[in-house]
Amino acid sequence: MTSKFQPIGVFDSGYGGLTILKEFLNDLPGYDFIYLGDNARAPYGSRSFEVVYEYTLQAVNKLFEMDCPLVILACNTASAKALRNIQQNDLPKMDPERRVLGVIRPAVESIGKYTRNGHVGILGTVGTVLSDSYPIELKKWAGESVFQTTQEACPMWVPLVENNEMDTPGAEYFVSKNIASLLAADPEIDAIILGCTHYPLLLPVIEKFVPEGVQLLEQGKVVSAKLVEYLNRHPAMDEKLSKSGLVKYYTTENVEVFEKNATNFIGKIIRSEKLILK
Ligand code: DGL
Repeated sequence: MTSKFQPIGVFDSGYGGLTILKEFLNDLPGYDFIYLGDNARAPYGSRSFEVVYEYTLQAVNKLFEMDCPLVILACNTASAKALRNIQQNDLPKMDPERRVLGVIRPAVESIGKYTRNGHVGILGTVGTVLSDSYPIELKKWAGESVFQTTQEACPMWVPLVENNEMDTPGAEYFVSKNIASLLAADPEIDAIILGCTHYPLLLPVIEKFVPEGVQLLEQGKVVSAKLVEYLNRHPAMDEKLSKSGLVKYYTTENVEVFEKNATNFIGKIIRSEKLILK
């Protein structure tokens, strides 16, 4: 094991990736992590492909500079719009020894355990839905006709979470509206992927409007289980990762605001530092 600080980098546009980090901390307690939230430029969901790619590449570069051998894009929008490009075009030039992984594939590989009839609903940001990443990856993974997918973009959900409005009548209005629209498009849906790392924060509201018998796939647990599997299958990468149990938090926005909100997300008091992405 290395004695140098070589953490796993966890990146999100804002706070949502903390729902993923929380599970990593449970499943990989001795490992070192850096969390980076680009709060100053969140949300990413309504931004163009070019912009999300540019911002995500800046974040990956920064996390590499900070000695992360492995970076997880704990953001569906970034995974949908930037991951493939970064893996195929940038990584070979930047450092072929490092790895960047996303959150879409782990959800796709796990959905079979949630649905009985193959009718799968996907809730995500406008960017994730327009990218068609979930339907495309589900087809690649399981073949053409195994899953019937229906997507619903929920443009108001991330702003509700970023502004700590989860427990309000406004949240109920938008959550019930989008779920009703998804289920109207395919009433046979029996499993829904929460395809945005912010959405678990809305879970108490979501559960109110999802009929009994419809299973919800939250990404934290499945992404974390897949990361543990990945590290078992890649001992050379695991060797490189430092393990002193240290977690550092960085934000591109105001540190006090980040700490207050992030503490709510992760359930413990955290300290953070500001950095600039460019
Ligand atoms: N957590 C991000 C995701 O999973 C939120 C996207 C946003 O910033 O709009 O897509």
